[in-house]
This record gives sequence, C-alpha cells and structure tokens, in this order.
Amino acid sequence: MMESVTVGASKKYEVIIGSGILRDCGELISRVKAPCLACIVTDDIVDGLYADTVEESLRSAGFSVVKHVFPNGEQSKCLECYGRLLDVLSAEGVTRTDLIVALGGGVCGDMAGFAAATYLRGMDYVQIPTTFLAAIDSSVGGKTAIDISAGKNLVGAFHQPIEVICDTDTLSTLRPETFADGAAEAIKYGVLSDPEIFDIFSEGRIREELQHVIKRSVEIKSEYVEKDEFDTGLRMYLNLGHTPGHAMEKLSHFSVTHGHAVATGMVMVADISEKLGFCEAGTAERIRQVLLKNQLPISTSFGAAELGEAALTDKKRRGASIRLILPVRIGECMLYETDAEKLPELFAMSEAVEG
Ligand code: GLY
Repeated sequence: MMESVTVGASKKYEVIIGSGILRDCGELISRVKAPCLACIVTDDIVDGLYADTVEESLRSAGFSVVKHVFPNGEQSKCLECYGRLLDVLSAEGVTRTDLIVALGGGVCGDMAGFAAATYLRGMDYVQIPTTFLAAIDSSVGGKTAIDISAGKNLVGAFHQPIEVICDTDTLSTLRPETFADGAAEAIKYGVLSDPEIFDIFSEGRIREELQHVIKRSVEIKSEYVEKDEFDTGLRMYLNLGHTPGHAMEKLSHFSVTHGHAVATGMVMVADISEKLGFCEAGTAERIRQVLLKNQLPISTSFGAAELGEAALTDKKRRGASIRLILPVRIGECMLYETDAEKLPELFAMSEAVEG
C-alpha cells in the first residue's frame, strides 16, 4: 500500500512511501510537475541498480531524460563534483523550469539538491532516496550541502524538493551496516518522540514494520521542519546524539559512519542526562540494548577530552555556550544549554567513552 506524508514547509510537498513505486515515479512526478527535461543525478552503484527503471518511468510519463553519474562515496560531495554537475546541466541545456531527480543516498541528495538550489538561481528537484538514512532524514526537510576542506556540509542552502519518492524495496538490498545507519536515526526519532518506534526496534520487528517506521519518522521530522524550517531553534532536537556523534566522525576521519556515530552519541547524552538527574533511571540502558540488538555500537575508543575538543569546533556551537539535546525518557527530550568549556567534563560522565 502506498502512503504519503505532507511536509508543510514554505513549499508544501508529499513524501510518498511504498513498495515497488520506483517504476511509477514518472507518473507520481507528473502530478506535481508538467513533463519537461529531467536530469537524473545518481552514483555509479545506484546507477546500475535503479536508474533504468527511473528513466523508463519518466519517459513513459512524457519527460525527456538526461543522466549524470558520479563516483559513489562521501568524497564526491565536493566542490569539483558539484562543479562538474553544473557543467553537465549547462551542456545539456537544462533550464530553470526543468527538473533534477536525485536518485541515491544522502551524498546524492545533498549535492544534487544544492545544484538545484543554485543552478540558474534555483530550480525544482525530486528526491528518490535509496538508503534508509536518506529516506528518513536527508531527503526530507530541504537541507542541501557539499563539503569543503574545513568541514562537512559547510556550504549549502535550504531548498525544499517538490516531491520525495521512497520505494521501500530499494532498502532491502542495503548492506547490513548501511541499513544499521538508518536504524540509528530511526531509533533517534523513537527516543525523541515515539516510544512505539523504539519498541519496534527493541522487539526486532523493523523488517516487518519498515514502511510504518519510515512514515512515522518522516512525520516526526516534518513536524520539526514545519515549525523551524531554517534551523534557528526547535529543529536542533533532530540533532539528538549528533554533537558527540559528529566529533566521532571527525576524529575517525569519517571511517565511523554517521549512524554508527549517532548511536554512540545517543548513549553518551543518555548517560549524561541520567547523571545530571534529568532522565528516568534505566533509559541509557534501554538505549544500549536497542542499539546492540540492531547491530549498532554503544561505545567509542575516543576519549572525553578529544571528543569535547572536536565538538567545540562543530558549527553548531554558539558563542561561549553549547546546546545538547538530552533524553528525559523514551519519547521525550529536553534542551540543555551550558558553557562550551564544560563539554569534555560532560562527555567524561558517560561510560561510552575511553578513560
Ligand atoms: N538532519 C537534521 C535536520 O535536517 O535538521
């Protein structure tokens, strides 16, 4: 059964979720965009898996199609790769009234979305996420970006897609570690505001409940996006576990993937919250158990001091204070603001860090 969630950002759009809907993407897109020239942007792994289906579907719905394929991996989310994409758009004669179709994981969505935000001062794009993580996080909410040498996502724009199409079948072929990355973000939504999602993961029912969990996760994300599209306040709740998580990613030179880092980050903030007396006793242990059950880590070999130091250069630091999202219980979190210098001391409260 196909379901959809409306994201009521400055531009309203649908996130359509269902099994096998990739082959209908042309028709689904034609509901929001008259046939035009569509440029499929995808990586060299996803290309072989799904680009033909998408291209055929777009053509049968009346779209003309061109395609740009870039090498799979985070290293492609760079200025050079973005520049090459702009050159292709220009060489293919793509105009402002045409369409970009971002087919792939977070790297693809972020870069193609940023090209859509900036090429000819902005054009429409559709997100077709093919990873669990992209389906429930990066494809929804309009954050687009590329990396520069100073850090990840430091150049970007808020630019909402005109539609998101998530074919749940594409997630069944993911490697277990890649699926686990998405599971970590979905568990995050559970800790943030939905005990039912948390229970699904605790009871090992995610494969049976995948579509439901994607829909609920997108609904939760869209509530935050609707209230704070441009990330000036409430949207920071979506960063539960991300302050220590980003520090782990950075210190590991990104060999620790985002979801795995966020998993350990959630354990850390739960430990901190319990020690500070904000959190129901036993919450951190429940988070540890759910992560272990879903092949996710609960500790890091980095120390509190180096993690604190790395987190302080995080772009989310504001002046001399830092904001952490802390669990209160499964399904409820709070904002905790403190001196930035206290971060290593706070991180040291968690058993998830070394020494
Ligand atoms: N990934 C967090 C956000 O979109 O705000």
